[in-house]
Amino acid sequence: MKISRTVEQIPPSGIRAFFDLVLGMKDVISLGVGEPDFVTAWNIRERAIYSLEEGYTSYTSNKGMEELRREVSRYLKNKYGLDYDYEDEILITVGVSEGFDLSLRTIIEKGDEVLVTDPSYVSYGPIVTLCGGKSVYIKTLPGNGFKVTPQDINKHCSKKTKAIILNYPSNPTGASYSRKELKELSAAIRKKNLIVISDEIYCDLTYDFEHTPLCVLPDMKKRTIYLNGFSKAFAMTGWRIGYACAPREVIAGMTKVHQYTMMCVPIMSQMAAIEALKNGERSVQEMKREYKRRREYVISRLNEIGLSCHKPEGAFYAFPSIKSTSLTSMEFASRLLKEEKVAVVPGTAFGPSGEGYIRISYASSMEKLKEALARMERFLSKNKMRG
Ligand SMILES: Cc1ncc(COP(=O)(O)O)c(C=O)c1O
Repeated sequence: MKISRTVEQIPPSGIRAFFDLVLGMKDVISLGVGEPDFVTAWNIRERAIYSLEEGYTSYTSNKGMEELRREVSRYLKNKYGLDYDYEDEILITVGVSEGFDLSLRTIIEKGDEVLVTDPSYVSYGPIVTLCGGKSVYIKTLPGNGFKVTPQDINKHCSKKTKAIILNYPSNPTGASYSRKELKELSAAIRKKNLIVISDEIYCDLTYDFEHTPLCVLPDMKKRTIYLNGFSKAFAMTGWRIGYACAPREVIAGMTKVHQYTMMCVPIMSQMAAIEALKNGERSVQEMKREYKRRREYVISRLNEIGLSCHKPEGAFYAFPSIKSTSLTSMEFASRLLKEEKVAVVPGTAFGPSGEGYIRISYASSMEKLKEALARMERFLSKNKMRG
């Protein structure tokens, strides 16, 4: 059967391609997947179990349960002072993944250009393509902490530019923006009249300063689609639940697509999410403390063994340079896997600017991280690659 040319032409995820190699290998320490190593807190799991016992097994409103939308609204108000109306400015989605897809499907016309950072999360470019848009990549540099600048926005905009995708803290670099930096960025965004899709899924894992949602800045709420979810902060990747907040006409458009495709998020996940927002903060803070401790360890060890690494401001990824080894990212990751059984992701999985870097997830136990870094040190000295 012939599949569409558009689908044929989008590449498979670089992470998947690499991790097919890992499958079937024994004793591998995987620092590859972007997923918390914690299990969802017991009170959240218990709420879902209890909801099944109570017989909650039906569809819900397409937009998501009213109680959950009210909780999202309350949570954002308490945490950031944001005002989103639960009735028509919030949509419960199947993770940020669906929220992202719906956002683009709702705003993009064929041929629209969308600014995407390079490197960035693997889904952005392909989804822009699937929606008929064209990604225009902004190369971000380590000297600048892998951040987009207002000058970058000015330089990459054309008459066709419709939107910019921002993700902070970032997967894969861990880069985030202070309020001051966001103010400068938002001035450029307003001037160019762009829509922002702001993927803030790692917002609760910001270590050195308070996270600022882009939509709290003056005049930004009306041009921002704010995406967040439960996967990372609440360790709920398998529950597949997130939410989108945006102006009501945008949420109405997104809800239309969502009702024909997903209909709604599973009711037990919605029940669990209500509990997470009401009583989950303590577990979020506990996990955050642990990630922060691991960040200190991993970054200092990487620099010590000769892989220069900037300090990520958030998320749970380190993005060290491997340029001192003269290997490509793919060669480095493949040889490290073969010779020392440590799996990391080649930086090129996140775009061409990822060449010369690898992504290491520190959402793994301290014990595993220590062993993995010892193996990496041995790999470098054995091959006389110490930088
Ligand atoms: C930046 C970013 N956005 C979105 C997602 C997907 O999140 P969800 O599980 O909510 O679909 C991920 C997962 O790794 C991510 O890193």
